[in-house]
Amino acid sequence: MGKVILLGHQKGGVGKSNTAVNLAVAISKEKYQGETDRILLIDADPQATLYRWAQRREDAENTHAFPCIRLDGNVTNQIKREAEKYDYVIVDAAGRDSREMRSAMLAVDLMLMPTKASLSDLELLEHMAETVETARDYNPELKVAVFINMAPTNSQSEKNIAKQLLKEFPEFTLLNTVISERKAHRDAFSEAQGIHEWKDSKAKAEMSCLLKEIDNEIKS
Ligand SMILES: Nc1ncnc2c1ncn2[C@@H]1O[C@H](COP(=O)(O)OP(=O)(O)OP(=O)(O)O)[C@@H](O)[C@H]1O
Ligand SMILES: [Mg+2]
Repeated sequence: MGKVILLGHQKGGVGKSNTAVNLAVAISKEKYQGETDRILLIDADPQATLYRWAQRREDAENTHAFPCIRLDGNVTNQIKREAEKYDYVIVDAAGRDSREMRSAMLAVDLMLMPTKASLSDLELLEHMAETVETARDYNPELKVAVFINMAPTNSQSEKNIAKQLLKEFPEFTLLNTVISERKAHRDAFSEAQGIHEWKDSKAKAEMSCLLKEIDNEIKS
């Protein structure tokens, strides 16, 4: 059985799709010498951000394309079936508390929740905590890890306040890795690349840290 990682959050625009592609590329580079065929991308968001990235990558020269499928509705069983065929399955689910997100939560090893450090973003975690508790009635093994994304590079205080707040949620594991707001993320994405293939060593180092922490979560 492959490891299934879901990018999920009811909030839009927090970096779910961006993290999905960067983790996929990081896994391929760090574990499979750049080969991509053991990693499946599942786009369970009608916006199809992930799927379109994968298609642009397929059209590009000199890059390994990722297998990528689109799913909608109740995706639990379809994800479980796909997990039998791959080492890693990365699922990008629609926000807004979608049926896709809720049903995906029943099929995954780890739900990864990017959040911005601002108060209005952090306030939504209360609702996510309830959603996670409900999902655990059906998938008691569900692990949920939250990390700060798009953190300002010039200020520590917002990050520190956010970390304090996040510690108050026993439902989630707070990851130490903080992914900074960097133009490289937008540039790489638009070129159908991952941050591991881009020329920003700091951004790459952050993504490597995130992958290490995720590996620890799904191993334990
Ligand atoms: N660390 C980062 N640094 C800079 N830009 C980022 C970072 N993470 C995400 N972005 C940008 O922020 C925007 C939103 O990110 P993304 O599309 O991944 O969010 P999402 O949670 O998938 O949104 P949606 O809910 O609409 O699917 C994108 O333009 C993306 O390139
Ligand atoms: Mg998205």
